[in-house]
Amino acid sequence: MMHMTRSFPEDFLFGAATAAYQIEGAAFEDGRTASIWDAFARVPGAVISGDTGDVACDHYHRYREDVALMKRLGLQSYRFSTSWSRVRPDGGAVNAKGVDFYSRLVDELLEAGILPWLTLYHWDMPQALEEKGGWTSRDTVERFVEYAATMHEALGDRVTHWTTFNEPWCSSFLSYTAGAHAPGRQSVRDGLLASHHLLLAHGRAVQELRGRGAEHVGITLNLTNAEPVDPSDAADLDAARRIDGQFNRWFLDPVFHATYPGDIVEDIRLVDEAAVEDLRCAVRDGDLATISTPIDFLGVNYYHGEYVSGRPSPIPVPGGDAPTDRHIASPFPSHEGIHWHERGYERTNMGWEIDPAGLTRLLERVSAEYAHDVPLYVTENGAAGDDHLADGRIDDAQRVAFVHDHVAAVRDALDHGVDVRGYFYWSLLDNYEWAWGYARRFGIVHVDYATQERTVKESGLEYARIIAARAVDG
Ligand code: NOJ
Repeated sequence: MMHMTRSFPEDFLFGAATAAYQIEGAAFEDGRTASIWDAFARVPGAVISGDTGDVACDHYHRYREDVALMKRLGLQSYRFSTSWSRVRPDGGAVNAKGVDFYSRLVDELLEAGILPWLTLYHWDMPQALEEKGGWTSRDTVERFVEYAATMHEALGDRVTHWTTFNEPWCSSFLSYTAGAHAPGRQSVRDGLLASHHLLLAHGRAVQELRGRGAEHVGITLNLTNAEPVDPSDAADLDAARRIDGQFNRWFLDPVFHATYPGDIVEDIRLVDEAAVEDLRCAVRDGDLATISTPIDFLGVNYYHGEYVSGRPSPIPVPGGDAPTDRHIASPFPSHEGIHWHERGYERTNMGWEIDPAGLTRLLERVSAEYAHDVPLYVTENGAAGDDHLADGRIDDAQRVAFVHDHVAAVRDALDHGVDVRGYFYWSLLDNYEWAWGYARRFGIVHVDYATQERTVKESGLEYARIIAARAVDG
């Protein structure tokens, strides 16, 4: 028998997350123009099966049904993103129809008693801006601030929680250095410049939104635990240092401490001195002060850790699978000599280790070293599964355990004194998993892409039970 013994504080928020390009569809309706993902998805070989977000979950037309589903699950908050190219097509003038969609969505959420948690950038920049340099151009920063202002102008009377960026590591290094995500560039310099301009746009947008009266403004970072295979081995420790630096510290240090990590700058200088010089020129006086404008919360996206060594693994390591050849290029400017090892954890359908205790450790570390007086929210955490619909059910046992164990891991962090105030499962719906197209399913709700029928999975029922009880078993 199960005892729901470990309860959550009254103000702890349970939610689920999605992103515009991954669910909306209606890619060219009501004035929306192409984003970098519309363009990238059409590059041969960039996305599995050439899948695009043209239709996705058709959420643009089915948002009422989807909000009703959220209500049925008992979600207290819904984290979604707005599409820049719907709201300001080509990065230019405001498109009233695009704004109106989000206004209707927000009204529907509020009517259902669900707190809207809005992310301004979840990877889909207008293609027209990419053609003017994209995130490597400083001008894009001001275009982004205009777009942020538009959204606040339209929704600031009803939306209280604002996230500037989702996972800038992905929008910079994975997209401009590895070329695995849109816009698909492969340049160390471009990844570095993109990371700086994304962070600068974050800081400028925080100032803009706050100036307009927003009280809850933050950023979501994809963070990880970089753990050395042998903590007494210098090469293993160095591999962990570099992974930590490139994933975590490259973003946490400027946001919280107004500096880029010097050790990583020096590492990158060894592989591309000219790129580091270009970064140095791009970082103007005052930029780091802007980037470190205080935030009201930090969103943490956690999926798995990195178990690394300076030596190759003696046995083959599963996971880390690449959907396309583009993933061969490393997203890290300085990755030579880093090897991933196997520690025997169960893995999801992405090949990612399942490590709930890692979430507790990560929250503790981030709160101790960075977010001393800034509340944390787990803004994403989820598992892809090999789900099958049978007799109207999806028996996703691995995800059932995943949800339970990660929510319990958050409870552990609370027990250890971490100020963590919410958990959003990724994702509400099966959706467009970027370079994997529709070949990976993260939802607690199954989507039949042929009929657009939604079916709550067993994991969705489990999550609804946890939310209703506001507790997990011990
Ligand atoms: C992080 C991203 O924010 C989201 O868009 C993606 O689908 C999930 N991770 C799963 O890979």
